[in-house]
Amino acid sequence: MVKKDINIVIFGSTGTIGINSLNVIRNSKTHKILALSAGKNIELLIKQITEFKPKYVSVSNKIDKIELQKKFNEIKFFDGDEGLKTLATLNNADLIISAIVGFAGFIPTYYAIKNNKKVALANKESLVAGGFLFSKKEIKNMIPIDSEHSAIAQILQNRDKKTIKRLIITASGGPFLNYSKKEMENITKKDALNHPNWSMGDKITIDSSTMVNKTLEIIEAHYFFDLPYEQISVVIHPQSMIHSMVEFTDSSIMAQLAYPDMKIPISQAIYYPEIENFSYESMDLTKLVNISFIPPNFEKFPSLNFAKLVIENPKLGVVLNRANEVAVEAFLNDKIKWNDIYKTIKTAIENYNLANINSIEDLKKVDNEVKIFTQNLIDSFQK
Ligand SMILES: NC(=O)c1ccc[n+]([C@@H]2O[C@H](COP(=O)([O-])OP(=O)(O)OC[C@H]3O[C@@H](n4cnc5c(N)ncnc54)[C@H](OP(=O)(O)O)[C@@H]3O)[C@@H](O)[C@H]2O)c1
Repeated sequence: MVKKDINIVIFGSTGTIGINSLNVIRNSKTHKILALSAGKNIELLIKQITEFKPKYVSVSNKIDKIELQKKFNEIKFFDGDEGLKTLATLNNADLIISAIVGFAGFIPTYYAIKNNKKVALANKESLVAGGFLFSKKEIKNMIPIDSEHSAIAQILQNRDKKTIKRLIITASGGPFLNYSKKEMENITKKDALNHPNWSMGDKITIDSSTMVNKTLEIIEAHYFFDLPYEQISVVIHPQSMIHSMVEFTDSSIMAQLAYPDMKIPISQAIYYPEIENFSYESMDLTKLVNISFIPPNFEKFPSLNFAKLVIENPKLGVVLNRANEVAVEAFLNDKIKWNDIYKTIKTAIENYNLANINSIEDLKKVDNEVKIFTQNLIDSFQK
């Protein structure tokens, strides 16, 4: 019998994860690109369309859609949220890679999952903001791309949840691990965009510098592995070689090691249970003499405290997520200082403790309210 191609839809194809996903799929004999979705980087998107020949493409703006449609008349183009929804629910889509940055990525994740699609999830914001809108069964249709969650999923395979004592999520500590509180007052954009181990999009790089990224990952792990906050710990491991660990009830610990390259967890998500042959040199374990573990500093990185709060009050996730997105954007646009990111999120969370959210429409409404609240808050900092 001829084996059917596996049709992939990539959301965020022009981003770091999207580009790496295309690199992973480029020479595949089994996996084909059915659809691509990008934001505004039309120049790169055109190159991707020319090489991968998708049948469907979605972009953020209507004008870009119209221009692209004139150029490629054999492809169907879409735009905006409707475009994201259409691509996420294509009948012949077998795997959805959800790699848009921020809350915008919730829309394709949501509609794909509600239409019983398998989703390889990079967009952790989907679970942080709206994880409570998915059932446990639906979350089982999500495969983690985040390296930490991919590591844990690989360690756990089919282990019973009862055998887990705790998850140990590793964190590089970011560029400011050894900064004093005084030094943290004058962090520049250039400093914050300089991650020691990973090359990523700007938003997640800033999130790593504030450790909000680890906060989002604790919440993501809570949903992925259905465990309470008390069973999810974080350890700083500056070398980023161990991507996470699991301690079992007999106190044994299993770790997953790999080079810090997102192509590895992406290919795990796409090809599992197969394993791709990457042409890396084997890791020389005798050179790993400096592997170290340090406890996280909740005082220097107070955003870590938001994880417990959100896991205990899941509807606050949308507030944490959007306030952070607005604050990171303001920092990148030189409107606020690095330290103000934490202050902004804290103030937003203190103002929204009872969000009545029962549907995607409610979630989008609250997300928009928080956006306006946070933007006004940031404007008031500047006066
Ligand atoms: N980078 C990593 O190593 C890494 C690791 C783990 C998890 N993640 C997660 O993966 C996600 C993507 O991260 P990234 O680093 O790849 O980000 P990125 O490089 O900034 O790329 C973001 C992608 O999202 C698209 N996009 C942005 N806003 C959009 C909108 N409103 N509608 C449609 N598309 C939109 C962008 O399109 P244009 O560029 O065309 O505008 C781009 O394709 C994030 O959730 C991040 O937390 C990333």
